[in-house]
Amino acid sequence: MTVLKIAKLGAPVLRQVAEPVPLEEIGKRAFQEFIDDMLEAMVKAEGIGLAAPQVFRSEQVVVMECQGEHGFPRTILINPEILGHSPVTAEGWEGCLSVDGLRGKVRRPVGVRVKYLDRDGKTVELDASGLYAICIQHEIDHLQGKLFLDRMTDFTTLTQLEEFEKYWRTEHAKVI
Ligand code: NI
Repeated sequence: MTVLKIAKLGAPVLRQVAEPVPLEEIGKRAFQEFIDDMLEAMVKAEGIGLAAPQVFRSEQVVVMECQGEHGFPRTILINPEILGHSPVTAEGWEGCLSVDGLRGKVRRPVGVRVKYLDRDGKTVELDASGLYAICIQHEIDHLQGKLFLDRMTDFTTLTQLEEFEKYWRTEHAKVI
């Protein structure tokens, strides 16, 4: 196991478009270990999603998992592509492991259809909604060099963590 360091806002890698993973890489031990290292880094940082550029690797890999009632199963997205969005959008609070101490509201489609390779290299098409859909969009944004801050349309909701907990936490159950 390698302990992966998380890239923070300002690190150029977060602003680069990530490279697709060649299919033949997926089965290799080093790549499988990288996925496990990403999962470990995500859990350790108490996140529910992590994209490879956030650990200084500009590759199209995302790991996600959120336990609990409104959560979603462990999902590994390799070379993901959004095939379609629901026309309905909603606002939700987001934060990011690469943006310490800030939360802000982002409006996104409530449902998404995504195509990707799983960690076995198999093609999967998935329809997701709710927190699952928000997290998929947030993480795929990372692969395009985008952060949730870029998606905010109203910066009056930008909130420091302590103030979020004090004033806003009860408004919405989950935060990315
Ligand atoms: Ni993020």
